[in-house]
Amino acid sequence: MLEYITKVNLRKAGLSGLFNLSMNYLECRTKPIKCISKPVTIMSEPTGDCNLKCKMCPRAAIDYKKQGSVDFEKWKEVMQKQFPYWHFHGFMGIGEPLLHPKFTDMIEYLEDRKVWKFVTTNATLLTDDKIKSLIKNNLNRMFISMDSSSKEMYETIRVGANFDKVCSNIKNLTNEIKKRKSKMEVILQSVLLKENAKDLPDMVRLASKLGVKEFRFQDIEIKFDTGWSTEEHAMRSNRSFFEKYIKEANKVGKELGVSVKFYNTSDYSLVRTKCVAPWNQAYIRWNGMITPCCTTLTHVHFFYGNIFEESFKDIWNNKKAMAFRKAARSKNQPKQCQKCSCL
Ligand SMILES: C[S@@+](CC[C@H](N)C(=O)[O-])C[C@H]1O[C@@H](n2cnc3c(N)ncnc32)[C@H](O)[C@@H]1O
Ligand code: SF4
Ligand code: SF4
Repeated sequence: MLEYITKVNLRKAGLSGLFNLSMNYLECRTKPIKCISKPVTIMSEPTGDCNLKCKMCPRAAIDYKKQGSVDFEKWKEVMQKQFPYWHFHGFMGIGEPLLHPKFTDMIEYLEDRKVWKFVTTNATLLTDDKIKSLIKNNLNRMFISMDSSSKEMYETIRVGANFDKVCSNIKNLTNEIKKRKSKMEVILQSVLLKENAKDLPDMVRLASKLGVKEFRFQDIEIKFDTGWSTEEHAMRSNRSFFEKYIKEANKVGKELGVSVKFYNTSDYSLVRTKCVAPWNQAYIRWNGMITPCCTTLTHVHFFYGNIFEESFKDIWNNKKAMAFRKAARSKNQPKQCQKCSCL
């Protein structure tokens, strides 16, 4: 959270915004069941549809069924009316954000509101026009999923993607960023699977070749319990096997000036008490359903309510939201929090 707080636009925040930000910071520490502050981070899912069928993706848990996309005008209206105090906006979910025909308009809208914004994308649809528009509208950070350095393994994991095309898209992006002196941060990220463990050092080399300065690795969420999203494939179940590759990846990163970070690799038995998601963020699915975080997206019973039908003020402290917070801060955590990789 601290990483994001330094990015708040203080001039735009105003007194009430700063009060909310401080209150939210406090509530992330005290973890009340009923919150006075509103979330400072909004995550939204432009679409629940995707052009790939990745082996470890939670989409497999919903059987890759046709989902849908948010209506841009409706989304804008909700953002305008319901969220006066938010500073960070992430686009992710269980679809591919760039598949939404108005994705670049969403970024433009957020830029007008001076919100710090990021997206996680598979980069398959990153055309020259989109790159130009995203740079122009000051997308602050782009996470690009890159799960192997070998064409064969990448295309085995990311079913439907073309390794060479994605690499070329990334190179075009970093070239354009350089050319236009843009401040957009590009970060490659990968899930840790026993299948891609030996590629880690070469993945860092690939990042350097593509002009990317940071690589983040994180263990898979196993609770979707489908496809490769199972304990059998996870880093934490194969820790000793991963060790030498992690060490080498770190070494290569130092040599090439690529920052290498490993996230969420702590033991499954730990209680997830550090997580502040139920206090500092709201996740909006394409259909308006509000959920605490990305790992609860596939489970309808965790949904607090629908932003297109109720006011956010009512949803944020309703019975379901309060029950989730109560459980999340206890030793008796919701099923999704147990073994969550977002510790
Ligand atoms: C669900 S995707 C959505 C955004 C976009 N479609 C993409 O692939 O980047 C967001 C991120 O979650 C990662 N992911 C997929 N399955 C996962 C799992 N089982 N556990 C943890 N992360 C996972 C993806 O690799 C991707 O980096
Ligand atoms: S990980 Fe991303 S690209 Fe892959 S199937 Fe899931 S949503 Fe689509
Ligand atoms: S599932 Fe994970 S990210 Fe979501 S509230 Fe629980 S611990 Fe936090």
